[in-house]
Amino acid sequence: MAATFGFRDVDPSEKPRLVRGVFDSVASRYDLMNDLMSAGVHRLWKDAVAARLNPQPGETIIDCAGGTGDMARRFAKMARRAQERRGGPDAKVFVLDYNAEMIAAGRAKGAPPEIAWGVGDAQALPLPDACADAYVISFGIRNVTDVQAALVEARRVLKPGGRFLCLEFSRPATEALQKAYDAYSFKVIPAIGEAVAKDRASYQYLVESIRRFPDQKTFLAMIQKAGFGRAGYTNFTGGVAALHHGWAV
Ligand SMILES: C[S@@+](CC[C@H](N)C(=O)[O-])C[C@H]1O[C@@H](n2cnc3c(N)ncnc32)[C@H](O)[C@@H]1O
Repeated sequence: MAATFGFRDVDPSEKPRLVRGVFDSVASRYDLMNDLMSAGVHRLWKDAVAARLNPQPGETIIDCAGGTGDMARRFAKMARRAQERRGGPDAKVFVLDYNAEMIAAGRAKGAPPEIAWGVGDAQALPLPDACADAYVISFGIRNVTDVQAALVEARRVLKPGGRFLCLEFSRPATEALQKAYDAYSFKVIPAIGEAVAKDRASYQYLVESIRRFPDQKTFLAMIQKAGFGRAGYTNFTGGVAALHHGWAV
């Protein structure tokens, strides 16, 4: 079966190289571009994910496809605050990403000692079974070649009762919002990419890959198929993004 790369269907063996090219190219401007493209709204979404996760002292948390560690920093900070209030051991937050350039850009920003960094594929994590209390993937799963395999892998590394959270762009809930969002994303985002990151093609890929990703209900069924219980989702900004969740049972 073909894999998707934006609006193109490609051979599955081709996709990792193509996706790596995108993130090699955007790594140094990645954080700035997120702020520009979303007018800072991605920060509110990420804060909401961290609040839902509610990281605790002593927990092992995987930030899969963690890029520059934007989520991991939030988790480490929250676990540290909880530790200051109640005591307990340090939390461990693993940022794993397929792309060494993104990891290098994250490391260069500096990070608290709870965070460890590694290069790894969401479809074959370099981690033992049942080692983590929580697994989070934020704006990453859309880029993975075999999404179902990545979900099964997330289930494998979680302890029984572990939490799964996935933040991803999704489908706006109304036609009016979809139209406005289409106009913005197809006209404005590639233009910002060209002006700021000198890379229109990577941001064209971004908007196309969002359109090819399964809608909220289809993705929920995939999470359930991977073996997660009590799964569901919450729309953010009218469904522009969605937070899917489940428990390892
Ligand atoms: C849009 S960035 C998201 C980064 C970060 N999670 C955030 O929310 O800011 C997507 C990330 O997914 C990574 N990625 C793509 N395919 C991957 C895979 N198969 N396994 C692990 N990471 C992958 C990319 O290298 C990139 O860093």
